[in-house]
Amino acid sequence: MNLPAAHPSEPAKSIAEGLKGRDFLALADITAAELAYLLDLAVRLKVLQKEGGQYAPLAGKTLAMIFEKPSTRTRVSFEVGMTQLGGQALFLSRNDLQLGRGETIADTARVLSRYVDAIMIRAYSHQQVVELARAATVPVINGLTDFAHPCQALADLLTLREAFGRLEGLKLAYVGDGNNVAHSLIVGAAKMGLHVAVATPEGYAPHPTVMETARECAQVSGGSVTWTTDPVEAVSGAHAVYTDVWASMGQEEEAEARKAVFAPYQVNAGLMAKADPQAVFLHCLPAHRGEEVTDEVIDGPQSVVFDQAENRLHVQKAILVALLGA
Ligand code: CP
Ligand code: NVA
Repeated sequence: MNLPAAHPSEPAKSIAEGLKGRDFLALADITAAELAYLLDLAVRLKVLQKEGGQYAPLAGKTLAMIFEKPSTRTRVSFEVGMTQLGGQALFLSRNDLQLGRGETIADTARVLSRYVDAIMIRAYSHQQVVELARAATVPVINGLTDFAHPCQALADLLTLREAFGRLEGLKLAYVGDGNNVAHSLIVGAAKMGLHVAVATPEGYAPHPTVMETARECAQVSGGSVTWTTDPVEAVSGAHAVYTDVWASMGQEEEAEARKAVFAPYQVNAGLMAKADPQAVFLHCLPAHRGEEVTDEVIDGPQSVVFDQAENRLHVQKAILVALLGA
């Protein structure tokens, strides 16, 4: 079965051509036009799947998935996505690979490239993923590093576009830790013309290079990027309020100390009341309920967190189709 026809405003074939064979490591490497193209493709794939249509352009293709950290959404959505597209995915935990016994990431990349058509990796070090991509001869997709989570940001943007019918001009407040999820979200949102207001405690702001990149993107798109330590200021009038855990994977030892630092940044009904009355609540999940978000918010009518989780499937299918040139 074919995909439903592209929207007339879909960027030219040259965008699709330009994405073929590329890596997907950070949103800084993707143009706004490419981002828009991937979102449009994700919508077409989503519509087709909801209608029960079959589309198998990746028949005979295999995705290797390397995991150094646990995962529910990333693992399942990539595996299901490959199956729906006619291909297959291999789950490879670090400790089951020779990587866990000291084989280099570059040699792992060279070997896997002889067997599979693309590699997805969830790792601690972003630099390791960059090294993997450099040595691989097949596309490499970042499934989360300590620095970035670009697949998540694409799902976040799709969820916002579905909720409001547009992205440009929306105010997005990110409240909490300036972490991997924040990094990709801020850059992606700035590229798409959103006004991004970040509130973190002093010392937990997003990386300065991320803020700089995002501000440059916002200058081009007509959006903006601000940082404050005041969560109320960031959330005031926002169309969307986003938070994530206060201690990410690998920061377990800091978790207790962080609880005290981040307590004023909890997204609760009081903070949500400062946002626009139509505002939505976003969280990449998994959530630590009662810490960064209360049950009343995450389970409340403004929460779109499960649409967000579902959209991981659709955007990642778009990424796979685009990078594999199907
Ligand atoms: N949001 C996200 O990446 O979830 P997982 O850790 O379950 O993959
Ligand atoms: N910031 C979180 C995101 C989990 C999907 C972490 O890195 O643990």
